[in-house]
Amino acid sequence: MESSRYIHGYSDEEGERLLAQAEFLAPWVLDEVRLDGVTRLLEVGVGVGAETLLLRARWPALRVFGVDVSAASLARARQTLAADVEAGAVTLVRASGTALPLAARSVDGAFLCWVLEHVADPAHVVGEAARCLRPGAPAWLTEVYNRSLLVEPGGPALDDYWRALNDVQRAGGGHPDIGARLAELAGRAGLAVESLRFVPVLGDARDPARRRALLDYFESLLRSAAPAVVRAGAFAAARLDEVWAVFERARAAPDGLLCYTFAQLIARRR
Ligand SMILES: C[S@@+](CC[C@H](N)C(=O)[O-])C[C@H]1O[C@@H](n2cnc3c(N)ncnc32)[C@H](O)[C@@H]1O
Repeated sequence: MESSRYIHGYSDEEGERLLAQAEFLAPWVLDEVRLDGVTRLLEVGVGVGAETLLLRARWPALRVFGVDVSAASLARARQTLAADVEAGAVTLVRASGTALPLAARSVDGAFLCWVLEHVADPAHVVGEAARCLRPGAPAWLTEVYNRSLLVEPGGPALDDYWRALNDVQRAGGGHPDIGARLAELAGRAGLAVESLRFVPVLGDARDPARRRALLDYFESLLRSAAPAVVRAGAFAAARLDEVWAVFERARAAPDGLLCYTFAQLIARRR
């Protein structure tokens, strides 16, 4: 099945991180998501079911058809969503976003979140999702734009590590700045772009608790990729503590800051 190497791995710990991540980022990621008119939603890259859980809680009438290439993630998703799977509200299938086991025009919404960065051919995946949408149906694409990360006070260790992480992801076939390409991908797939937002996730001195939570979240995200980055020879294990020390300093600094921007596109099948 076609995908790039998943830089964060598929451990139980990573599954828990994804569940916590979805909950933590929901105020930004789900803020503009409206699924009221959607009955059958396609979710590509469903992972451990973290977003599915939140979507089902907000739209209880929603039925979700979720696919992922990872059998381990799907097994965890079946636990997370046990009641919904049992009730037939969620169907989970092992498949690649490049070859969806769905008929053309068979769903009335699509939701892709943090997945295109991990696939070798994002255009193919967006094209497949578009094929499955009925005319007029909406798609939500939420993706990374890693170039935007700013931590202050920063330091060369964090700069070097972040560059290394993104290089390793790219070398494995991934796309750490794919957020900037969403409109282009949607256009190529025959979707009409309704809106494209670059959403700022910002923690600064105005709200120290939020700033701390954001620094904690990003540190855990960066830590989860450390084994892969070190294994690839892109960053020395001996320097990792310097990276975590940057987060510690930013947490302690009165004017500490974290800013990250992700991209969210809403489009509609023509
Ligand atoms: C970062 S996780 C995101 C999971 C979920 N969307 C969320 O936000 O919690 C990315 C997921 O994409 C899946 N994936 C990677 N390549 C894929 C492909 N070609 N088709 C379907 N899923 C894929 C991975 O197995 C992984 O579960």
